[in-house]
Amino acid sequence: MQRILVSFLTLAVTLPAFAEAPQQMLASYAAEASRDQRGFAPSAERGRQFYLEKRGAAEKMPNCATCHTEDPAAPGKHVITGKSIEPLAPVAGSARFGDGAKTEKWFRRNCKEVVGRECSAAEKADLLRYLLTKAGA
Ligand code: HEC
Repeated sequence: MQRILVSFLTLAVTLPAFAEAPQQMLASYAAEASRDQRGFAPSAERGRQFYLEKRGAAEKMPNCATCHTEDPAAPGKHVITGKSIEPLAPVAGSARFGDGAKTEKWFRRNCKEVVGRECSAAEKADLLRYLLTKAGA
C-alpha cells in the first residue's frame, strides 16, 4: 500500500513538471511586458504570426520556421549545418524552456539573426503562449 502511494505521489509530481518551467517563463516574460504595455496579455495567435513571419534580415533564414519547421512540435534541422534540432515546443519529456540562461542566449542569437534585432519581452511571451498550445498544454 505504501509503495503504491509513493509511486502515485512520484507520478503526480513528475507528470506536470515538463509544462511547469515553460509556464513560469511565460509568466515572467508577460510580467516584464506588462511593465511597458499596461494590460498586456500573451496571445498564441500573435506568437504564431511572429514565428512564421518572413523577414529580410538574413536571406537564408527568413523566419523561425526555417530551422524549427512550420510545426514547432516537430524536430527541426539547422538550415546551414544540417544538424537536427529538438522540437522547439515543450513537448512531453523535453527540456525546453527549463533553463532561463539558455533560453535567453538563443533568443538573443536567433532574434538578431532572423529579425535583425533583439526580441521584446512581449514577443517572447506571445511565442511561448503559442508553443505551449503546440505542446498540448
Ligand atoms: C539558423 C537556424 C535557426 C533559426 C532560423 C532559429 N533558430 Fe532557434 N535555435 C536554433 C538552434 C541550433 C538552437 C539550439 C539548439 C537546441 O536548443 O536544440 C535554437 C534554440 C532556440 C531557443 C532555446 C529554447 C530553449 O530550450 O530554451 C529559442 C527560444 C529559440 N531557438 C527561438 C527562436 C526564434 C524565436 C526564432 C525566430 C526569430 C529562431 N529560434 C530561429 C536554430 C535556429
